[in-house]
Amino acid sequence: MSKENITAAPPLHTRLSRLHNWLSLAGLLLAVSAFFAFMLLFSVDLFASHANPYMGILAYVVAPSFLLLGLAAVLVGYILETRRIPKDHPEMASNFILHVNLTRRRDRRLLVGFIGGSLGFLFLTALGSYQTYHITESNKFCGEVCHVPMDPQYQAYQHSAHARVACVACHVGPGAGNYIRTKISGMRQLYHMILSDFNRPIALHNVNQRPAQETCQSCHWVQKHTGDLHKTYRHFLADETNTPFTVQMLLKVGGSDPVHGPVEGIHSHMNIANKVEFIATDEGRLTIPWVRVTNANEKVTVYRTKEFTDDISKYAIRTMDCMDCHNRPSHKYLTPNGAVDQSMAFGRIDPSLPWAKAKVVKALVQTYATREEANQKIEGFLRGEYPGEKRVNALIKETQAIYEANFFPEMKVDWRVHPDMIGHKDSNGCFRCHDGKHLASDGKSSIKGSDCNACHLIVAQGAGKDLEKVAAKGLTFIHIDSENSEPSCNECHNGQTQE
Ligand code: HEC
Ligand code: HEC
Ligand code: HEC
Ligand code: HEC
Ligand code: HEC
Ligand code: HEC
Repeated sequence: MSKENITAAPPLHTRLSRLHNWLSLAGLLLAVSAFFAFMLLFSVDLFASHANPYMGILAYVVAPSFLLLGLAAVLVGYILETRRIPKDHPEMASNFILHVNLTRRRDRRLLVGFIGGSLGFLFLTALGSYQTYHITESNKFCGEVCHVPMDPQYQAYQHSAHARVACVACHVGPGAGNYIRTKISGMRQLYHMILSDFNRPIALHNVNQRPAQETCQSCHWVQKHTGDLHKTYRHFLADETNTPFTVQMLLKVGGSDPVHGPVEGIHSHMNIANKVEFIATDEGRLTIPWVRVTNANEKVTVYRTKEFTDDISKYAIRTMDCMDCHNRPSHKYLTPNGAVDQSMAFGRIDPSLPWAKAKVVKALVQTYATREEANQKIEGFLRGEYPGEKRVNALIKETQAIYEANFFPEMKVDWRVHPDMIGHKDSNGCFRCHDGKHLASDGKSSIKGSDCNACHLIVAQGAGKDLEKVAAKGLTFIHIDSENSEPSCNECHNGQTQE
């Protein structure tokens, strides 16, 4: 044997032939399928109008892992095969070449079987990835698979106006930047889910909140002029007779687009004619000391509170959008006071049960470690309060139902953690800015605050016959003892009953 023969690399066909072993072939099949699945997932992800974070895990982690696994198997097969060929007899490699002879029946059968099997495998891969896509896209996946951490949001969502809107429609927006951010965030969430070290409660900054233009406004037409909305708020006092007290009012929702109606009212904040920007000094945006308005004529007015003397350059300026008022469009946790009022107004709690309002609220606001403990203790408490009362079973059931829908002890979530900003009774809401304390540079004019008719007209209030006296021009609010109608309602009202 000449020297050249030994040192020269084996010819290509010999090297390729070393791939003809079962491990390499299986690896190749796996790699091709994984690649196929990747392409499919990738294109679905790319063209789906509302992509979802878990798709990213499938497309960019799971599929490529299988691809690498397949390629590794091909390589290992190749190396093992190389070892089997004695170094000094490279010509033996040709023994390993697959000889397929189509005139042989056995070969024909094997080949058809192999091709058929491969096609079937590819088909199942395609079907599998498509099905997985649908499952991960669904609300059940968001709300139930990720059961413990998302349970509060999922439960509240099912009772919201958006119960038929997919989670991903609000939480994942289109666009390349968002797209990649969501993928990364989805993987991070899965990781915390597996380790079970997620925050309790889930903090706001843990969900990527998309701007309203990409989410809310993909369904809601921002130019719409809503005009006045008539709303009724039914309450019951925490006294022996559960005295009813109702407020009926016209909310001046208005609109923001001069093409479709006058620019007026509550929706005039939306960034068409006017643009409102603000600085919040806390993550929950509860404290807003600085506000800037730019109107249609480019007139800029800055309002700030007296206490806020900081240099604004160290703060992020946020443009106000839907979610600064409608911050709980689909995960609203009722206050115990509000939830019991609702149950009484709708007849689920009998208002003729003495002290029912006060007692049910009291049962709800105790601290319980788990739902089971809450259910037991609520039952124990109410049975003790109403000995020999037939209606107590129904009362217990309803109280437990209120608890179940609005309190999540395992995740430490209730109305206190996620206050609703839409009004001003139980949270500072609108009064974060409309408190009369945000002054323009002249030091005098403020964002409207103490004018109770700026946002709504109370057209009727009280109970029974009082509610028949409707006043088109609006009434002065008659508070329970007529003295406490100070703007900062939530200094007293905190979602529980007032002593
Ligand atoms: C109509 C739009 C909308 C839909 C649909 C929606 N969300 Fe939300 N979600 C929001 C907004 C807005 C917030 C931020 C709330 C805030 O700023 O206080 C939020 C917050 C959250 C949070 C953070 C914790 C919290 O309560 O603030 C989680 C978790 C969450 N959503 C999960 C879900 C899940 C799961 C679904 C589907 C079952 C879903 N969301 C559907 C709008 C939506
Ligand atoms: C996928 C479409 C879709 C998206 C996205 C969406 N909404 Fe809605 N929204 C609806 C529909 C449909 C209704 C009406 C439901 C009904 O009346 O049955 C609605 C109702 C509402 C209402 C009236 C609620 C009520 O109690 O009657 C408000 C307020 C609202 N949406 C705000 C928002 C905000 C804020 C966002 C963004 C965080 C948002 N929506 C995102 C479709 C959507
Ligand atoms: C300044 C606060 C504020 C902003 C900003 C705001 N809204 Fe509203 N919106 C309200 C109030 C208050 C109501 C009256 C309903 C209520 O009190 O629950 C309302 C009512 C609505 C309704 C119900 C209308 C009806 O006919 O029933 C919809 C839908 C709505 N808003 C959508 C939006 C959308 C979409 C955006 C963002 C483009 C937005 N809102 C921005 C405060 C606001
Ligand atoms: C981030 C601060 C901020 C918040 C929060 C806020 N507003 Fe405003 N609002 C403003 C500013 C600024 C103006 C414009 C004042 C001006 O033109 O000088 C305004 C104007 C208004 C007007 C128009 C007054 C008029 O007659 O021109 C109404 C009505 C109104 N807001 C209602 C609400 C309601 C209802 C809420 C709560 C759901 C709310 N606002 C929350 C800052 C805020
Ligand atoms: C900046 C706008 C704004 C101003 C100013 C304002 N309100 Fe309101 N108010 C609202 C909104 C918005 C709601 C509706 C909240 C909701 O739909 O849950 C509301 C609701 C109410 C309710 C019904 C609450 C309930 O749960 O029964 C009363 C009563 C009320 N306001 C009284 C007043 C009084 C009194 C003043 C003057 C000190 C005042 N408001 C000033 C925006 C305003
Ligand atoms: C100084 C404390 C105080 C202030 C400030 C105050 N309230 Fe009240 N409010 C009470 C008390 C006490 C009751 C009686 C509670 C009961 O019997 O359940 C009450 C009852 C009510 C009720 C009927 C029952 C209920 O629990 O919902 C409404 C509605 C109400 N207040 C709205 C307001 C509004 C709106 C403001 C701001 C404009 C306001 N209150 C400011 C103390 C206050």
